[in-house]
Amino acid sequence: MADPAPIPAELQIDAPQTWVRLIESAALDMPRPLIPVRLNGKRLVLFRDEAGSLGLIGRNCPHRGADLCYGRLEDNGLRCPFHGWHFDHTGQCVEQPAEPEDSQMYKAIKIPMIPVEERDGSIWAYLGTGSDAELIKEAPA
Ligand code: FES
Repeated sequence: MADPAPIPAELQIDAPQTWVRLIESAALDMPRPLIPVRLNGKRLVLFRDEAGSLGLIGRNCPHRGADLCYGRLEDNGLRCPFHGWHFDHTGQCVEQPAEPEDSQMYKAIKIPMIPVEERDGSIWAYLGTGSDAELIKEAPA
């Protein structure tokens, strides 16, 4: 399967503690509102859940590294296409289908995230306090 084109093109921002404009809000007005983003070399996925909340999280699943850009938007979150772990817009795992029903392991699993907000018709990411940017894998050069 071909790698989805990053929209917008890769952004390189050298100013910490800054809100960065990622894209027009209208870019997510599509049946499957999910876009791969590269920000300072980090591989991310931007998506809107069914409740309208935005998520900007690391692109690789913490289980076996599957590319979440190919995940399914369902149950108000993003489900990994490989084994079905399910994540909310903050990157928190909320379900692991193959685990025993009473397992609580999912609570300890969280994908690093970058705070994101929608203002004035654009989607903005915050590269400062509260951001997990340093934990997100960089794309190979
Ligand atoms: S690789 Fe994502 S659930 Fe296994």
